[in-house]
Amino acid sequence: MSNKTTGHDSPERRKVSILDLAGRKSQGKLITMLTAYDYSSALLVDNASIDIVLVGDSLGMVMLGLDSTVPVTMDDMLHHCRAVARGARIAFLVGDMPFMSYQADIAEGIRNAGRFLKEGMMEAVKLEGGREVAGTVRAIVDAGIPVMGHIGLTPQSVSKLGGYKVQGKTAKDASRLLEDAIILEDTGCFSIVLEAVPEPVAEIISRRLHIPTIGIGAGAKCDGQVLVYHDLVGLFDRFTPRFVKQYANAGQIIQDALTTFADEVHKGDFPSAEHTYAIDDTELDSFLKSLES
Ligand code: KIV
Repeated sequence: MSNKTTGHDSPERRKVSILDLAGRKSQGKLITMLTAYDYSSALLVDNASIDIVLVGDSLGMVMLGLDSTVPVTMDDMLHHCRAVARGARIAFLVGDMPFMSYQADIAEGIRNAGRFLKEGMMEAVKLEGGREVAGTVRAIVDAGIPVMGHIGLTPQSVSKLGGYKVQGKTAKDASRLLEDAIILEDTGCFSIVLEAVPEPVAEIISRRLHIPTIGIGAGAKCDGQVLVYHDLVGLFDRFTPRFVKQYANAGQIIQDALTTFADEVHKGDFPSAEHTYAIDDTELDSFLKSLES
């Protein structure tokens, strides 16, 4: 699978593999990662030559309108993973394990991780936490499933963290983050997301690890960067963290289009002749005559 050219966009683009991602770090090439949640966004992300597509549990907020990622279920995730896998044929595909799909029991964690590959058509899973999930990470990797770690601000633990706050701001917390990162690397993670971590701390972690770090709100010194699709294109307006750069205001463009549609329907301007089907005059005459008789 890793050497396959998909022909999805241009024939020379090759499917991104886990080995390509490891190679990027040793070659000093930065890795790009974006979230996607459905077929059409996955197509756009893939056509932008993004290396990794993450079906993030952030879909709970941006797609389902939930207040946090905590209520997201395995069924929610698998439904969206399948749609993304149909659209993104070149990027490496990572599915985000939702809250309570891996925390309670290692065997359940392995089974749920397996579902992401068997039913969700993903190639790897991501799960949140440091040393406390090391046993689970090891067991999932031993089952043949690549795992991406996620430390720093871990949204599934927002109640324990007391809110969406920057992590690793004291020397003690920064040391703990570095230790967690090393433990995750040692237990077999192929990459680690660092979320909302001061840049110098993220830089030290990135230099110390052999596997690539992917930053979100962790500065420019990580081995790659990830953003949430809806934040990047301006489709989510509930809140925008400081680390988000909005590259487009697609929400406004779509809103204007919808409002114009409603106005044109009310005024009778839509549909015009170009959007309307005709019928042959003789067929129409005969139809009208049949009504008279
Ligand atoms: O769920 C998500 O979108 C994530 C990214 C922010 C890394 O975990």
